[in-house]
Amino acid sequence: MTTATTQALLDVDRVTLRYKTPDAIITATDQVSFTVNAGDRFVLLGPSGCGKSTLLKAVGGYLMPEEGEIRIKGRRVERPGADRMMVFQEFDQLLPWKTVLENVMFPLLVARKMPRKEAQERARAYVEKVHLGKFADSYTHLLSGGMKQRVAIARGMCMEPDILLMDEPFAALDALTRRQMQDELLQLWDETRFTVMFVTHSIAEAIRIGNRILLLSPHPGEVKAEVSNVQAIGDDAAAAAGLEQEIHGLLFDQEGAHPA
Ligand SMILES: Nc1ncnc2c1ncn2[C@@H]1O[C@H](COP(=O)(O)OP(=O)(O)OP(=O)(O)O)[C@@H](O)[C@H]1O
Ligand SMILES: [Mg+2]
Repeated sequence: MTTATTQALLDVDRVTLRYKTPDAIITATDQVSFTVNAGDRFVLLGPSGCGKSTLLKAVGGYLMPEEGEIRIKGRRVERPGADRMMVFQEFDQLLPWKTVLENVMFPLLVARKMPRKEAQERARAYVEKVHLGKFADSYTHLLSGGMKQRVAIARGMCMEPDILLMDEPFAALDALTRRQMQDELLQLWDETRFTVMFVTHSIAEAIRIGNRILLLSPHPGEVKAEVSNVQAIGDDAAAAAGLEQEIHGLLFDQEGAHPA
């Protein structure tokens, strides 16, 4: 296609997502639109229940929109695929009867992307990238929470997907480890410039991780605003605090839900 230079990597186009339960229809997101470009660290930020996880699952292809369309490289998302890998919050997303290396190479083998030997080599390289070389042959139940999340990140990155989908991957970690994992993710991004869509309800985490932040309103989730060029702040703590305040205002004050 000749238009490829300006085409977004991910196009979420007026997407409404609903859950149908026996006694109710729950609208999780209402007419949400945004685009993610290659190399973005795109953050979805909003209060609990605003539909962040639901949106991420829909991009993952686990849930189909009631209205609207999700496209990756112009192609409609209709099912899960190796071009979109997920990292979840839960430490139990790994297979405890497999080693670190086996966990990381597992999706490569399932997708039959390459012969076993090559898959093992690639997996080993990603295990090194997340600083777990010494633990390659350890079973994952012996690892700390942070280490388990590193395995999940290596497993996702190992598939070299078009986009890595991360749903509050550090939320269950202690504050220090969380901060360290944020730094490591940014380092990985510096090395490989992958595209990531990162869900959080922490404003501070959104500012640290994202170059673009999409703010969603409370249930049902609608786009409230987008903050871009976040990386311009760098290590300027005062600027980060100012932006945090501004985002808080955008998320809550306009509705009058949370007085300043
Ligand atoms: N399987 C489900 N069945 C019915 N309703 C659901 C289901 N999963 C989520 N919901 C509802 O959809 C809405 C959005 O939920 P979602 O989990 O996407 O929010 P979230 O922004 O990820 O919240 P949190 O920050 O707490 O993770 C909520 O009202 C939730 O109760
Ligand atoms: Mg969620």
